[in-house]
Amino acid sequence: MNQTILLLPHIVSVFLMLKICTSLDTIAVYQNIIDGDTIVSGSENFELGFFSPGSSKNRYVGIWFKNTSPRAVIWVANREAPLNNTMGMVKLDNHGIMSVVNEAGRAIWSSNSFASFTNATIPRAQLLDDGNLVIKDENSVIWQSFDYPGDTFISGMKLGKDLITGRVMKLTSWRSADDPSTGEYSVSFLMEDCRYPQVYIKKSSVIVTRIGPYDGIEFAGQLNYKRNPNHMYIIDMVANQKEMYFQYTSNINTTVSLKSTVTPSGKLEIMQLSNGNNEWMPDHTFPVDYCDNYGLCGPYGSCSTATSPTCECLKGFELKDPKPNPDNWTSGCTRTRALDCGPGEGFLKFSSMKLPDTQNAVFNASLSLQECEVACKDNCSCTAYANPNMTAGGVGCLLWFGDLIDVRMYSQNGQDLHVRLAAAELLELNMVSQSKRKVVLTVAISISSGLVLLLAVAYACTMKNKTSCMKGDALHKKKTGIQIEDLDELPVFRLHTLAKATDNFSINNKIGEGGFGPVYKGELEDGQVVAMKRLSETSKQGLDEFKNEVICIAKLQHRNLVKLLGYCIHGNEMILIYEYMANKSLDTILFDETRSLTLDWPKRFNIILGMARGILYLHQDSRLQIIHRDLKAGNILLDDEMNPKISDFGLARKFVGSDSAAKTKKVVGTYGYIAPEYAVHGLFSVKSDVFSFGVLVLEIVSGKKNRGFSHKDHSDNLLGHAWRLYKEDKTIELMNASLHGSCNVSEVLRAIHVGLLCVQHHANDRPTMLSVVLMLVSEGVLPQPKQPAFFTGESDSQVQALSSVDEYMITQCCAR
Ligand SMILES: *[C@@H]1O[C@H](CO)[C@@H](O)[C@H](O)[C@H]1NC(C)=O
Ligand SMILES: *[C@@H]1O[C@H](CO)[C@@H](O)[C@H](O)[C@H]1NC(C)=O
Ligand SMILES: *[C@@H]1O[C@H](CO)[C@@H](O)[C@H](O)[C@H]1NC(C)=O
Ligand SMILES: *[C@@H]1O[C@H](CO)[C@@H](O)[C@H](O)[C@H]1NC(C)=O
Ligand SMILES: *[C@@H]1O[C@H](CO)[C@@H](O)[C@H](O)[C@H]1NC(C)=O
Ligand SMILES: *[C@@H]1O[C@H](CO)[C@@H](O)[C@H](O)[C@H]1NC(C)=O
Ligand SMILES: *[C@@H]1O[C@H](CO)[C@@H](O)[C@H](O)[C@H]1NC(C)=O
Repeated sequence: MNQTILLLPHIVSVFLMLKICTSLDTIAVYQNIIDGDTIVSGSENFELGFFSPGSSKNRYVGIWFKNTSPRAVIWVANREAPLNNTMGMVKLDNHGIMSVVNEAGRAIWSSNSFASFTNATIPRAQLLDDGNLVIKDENSVIWQSFDYPGDTFISGMKLGKDLITGRVMKLTSWRSADDPSTGEYSVSFLMEDCRYPQVYIKKSSVIVTRIGPYDGIEFAGQLNYKRNPNHMYIIDMVANQKEMYFQYTSNINTTVSLKSTVTPSGKLEIMQLSNGNNEWMPDHTFPVDYCDNYGLCGPYGSCSTATSPTCECLKGFELKDPKPNPDNWTSGCTRTRALDCGPGEGFLKFSSMKLPDTQNAVFNASLSLQECEVACKDNCSCTAYANPNMTAGGVGCLLWFGDLIDVRMYSQNGQDLHVRLAAAELLELNMVSQSKRKVVLTVAISISSGLVLLLAVAYACTMKNKTSCMKGDALHKKKTGIQIEDLDELPVFRLHTLAKATDNFSINNKIGEGGFGPVYKGELEDGQVVAMKRLSETSKQGLDEFKNEVICIAKLQHRNLVKLLGYCIHGNEMILIYEYMANKSLDTILFDETRSLTLDWPKRFNIILGMARGILYLHQDSRLQIIHRDLKAGNILLDDEMNPKISDFGLARKFVGSDSAAKTKKVVGTYGYIAPEYAVHGLFSVKSDVFSFGVLVLEIVSGKKNRGFSHKDHSDNLLGHAWRLYKEDKTIELMNASLHGSCNVSEVLRAIHVGLLCVQHHANDRPTMLSVVLMLVSEGVLPQPKQPAFFTGESDSQVQALSSVDEYMITQCCAR
């Protein structure tokens, strides 16, 4: 009497057969009498039936795990429209539409499937082993319950978005344990175009908790599923043209069931049911802790459960409201110094972070971290960047525009976040980190703003439009392996123009021999005097350096870097054209007894400061971080006013952010200037350039070469000699005697002191170029230097080994 029968059009009799023949196929029947009665069999692990939740008397059609305690309903068909008695049935019509029909014969719920089945193809419904209820014809699935999640997510389901239909698959809570109708909370997946995936728990439209973003392995910080190889399930992200979603699957063979349910009170509860056990055990619940309250610390505030107070402003930011309510940080933090989008702006790296909300971020999967920094720096409204995908091998770039919200600091598994800060802010933070040894630079702040101005006056590119080769030279560019975009902004010169300017590369116009070939002086038709480096045809190594030089220097503009005016590639000819430096290189004057007399102290100090600014620009302020690797007197050119310009970027390397150290098997550089960790271990970093700079400073003050230095009383090199004098409080004796008339003693002492700090044995002890510039121009107390590297030539066997190597190039171990 009470029984209702599921109508399977045309095949009611077939059903009976099927039930006997196979446990797998086709939906089965039936009733609505006893709570939990099954209307469908066929699935190993799941059942479809009528049930009443909790203490409710209402009846629903749902799917639940078979034989578990408590019964775990994963899906409800008529959640918004209950049956109020035990009269009702489930029906599948011959269009493939399934419906729940009440006692009056009215459909109170139906699937939105519709397919015009011919008599030959019969719609069938089936509950699959994974808990998915599908309606299909012979060939394809036309509707499935997994596309319409309720409050529970299980293995095999997808949470995300179908990009073709636009359907969003999200979880919605029940109103209460007794009422499956849609409640206040939802769990959704933010994954729009160019956004980076993360999960929200929302109350209506307000975000309560943010989980993620996905770091390529899992949702960062808290789950540790995949990172623990023994864990039973893994989370996967899929993003393609058709859909974007995440799902989880079993990690090992054990049949562990997992379900994630958003509860009526807004928690995301992950429960597991292991093999041979039919009780649900809690596994994980979100939110985990206080800091998971979305945006708790406001914009630019960072939350940490390990600190008290819980909220802190990110470095470089201060409280917006000077008297915050300790329980209400929603107004958050604001920049200590405003951004002006000047060239000195940069990024501070924060480690082990929960990355900010990606709602206002843009993701580009093809950019490296280095390109990411450039992309962020180039767009004034970009506030931070990160490489969010830890499995992508350093590729992938997330750029934030606008405030950084919902940041927290983890104790493990967090990610690196690079936050844009004003130039002056970076300067000051850098000073603070340098002040571990109590460097007191009282004038730091006023100087720093001046310095920024100075740096900002990078020379504009005022190159005249030279007669150029045809742009069709792309073929040649390809042949040399130089990326076209590296050269695009650079003027191209015709070979015959250059030949004419140098009297056909006459030996009379040859002014030197560079790293990869002869250098000529030439006068262009408009009267401009230039220097040209010509790659010698036989030089294989020269080709690499030529390319490197172009790539490195093409985009650099600084008054203390030699300016590349253009290039010419024609057949096998490769020529770089530079501004001409009337006074050649520093070594030709500094170490020449008579010419050196023209270098009085003000000129020498100007050279030291100019070099320092040029190197600082390379290390910190250009679009790419560059380590020169071959700083020496021969590579410092002097213009007609004795202003120094750094040249020869053939060995330079580009870097990004704080990853500015690398190891190479091929050590190239020049003996006498090369830092010990680089010479011995092949480790180079900005600090190896700082070392070379220190050597240059001591050479400029003393007028002596470090290499080849000799003294009647001891066998130390120049560095050792300077150290000896410093220890004996006779520092000033290092100064070249010719400077007595022109010197400013405190400036000389300061320069030597800074030089000694730069040549300290341990790279970590050496100051950054930023500190060097500040120390040179300020009058603050300087830290004590430690003993320099290569103190004595005799006792250090590594130095002995090196000193037998060719003076110009030290090459170890060959192949890179
Ligand atoms: C059950 O619902 C039907 C309509 O669906 C209504 O007519 C009937 O009065 C309800 N019965 C009870 C006991 O609420
Ligand atoms: C399908 O079957 C119905 C009756 O069962 C019949 O009236 C109809 O003509 C058939 N249609 C086709 C295309 O065979
Ligand atoms: C997992 O299952 C596969 C195939 O069923 C089997 O070859 C493999 O040994 C199993 N692995 C473990 C760890 O049980
Ligand atoms: C925090 O302060 C803001 C205004 O500053 C207010 O709108 C908000 O309701 C407060 N939140 C709490 C939890 O007190
Ligand atoms: C990613 O960046 C590259 C290089 O700038 C650009 O060509 C590409 O269109 C970008 N992709 C997206 C999706 O923005
Ligand atoms: C900066 O990026 C934003 C967001 O991608 C874009 O709308 C804006 O046009 C960009 N600005 C510049 C100057 O490129
Ligand atoms: C992360 O990187 C891996 C490897 O390139 C890629 O397969 C995956 O789709 C990426 N994930 C996201 C979310 O971008």
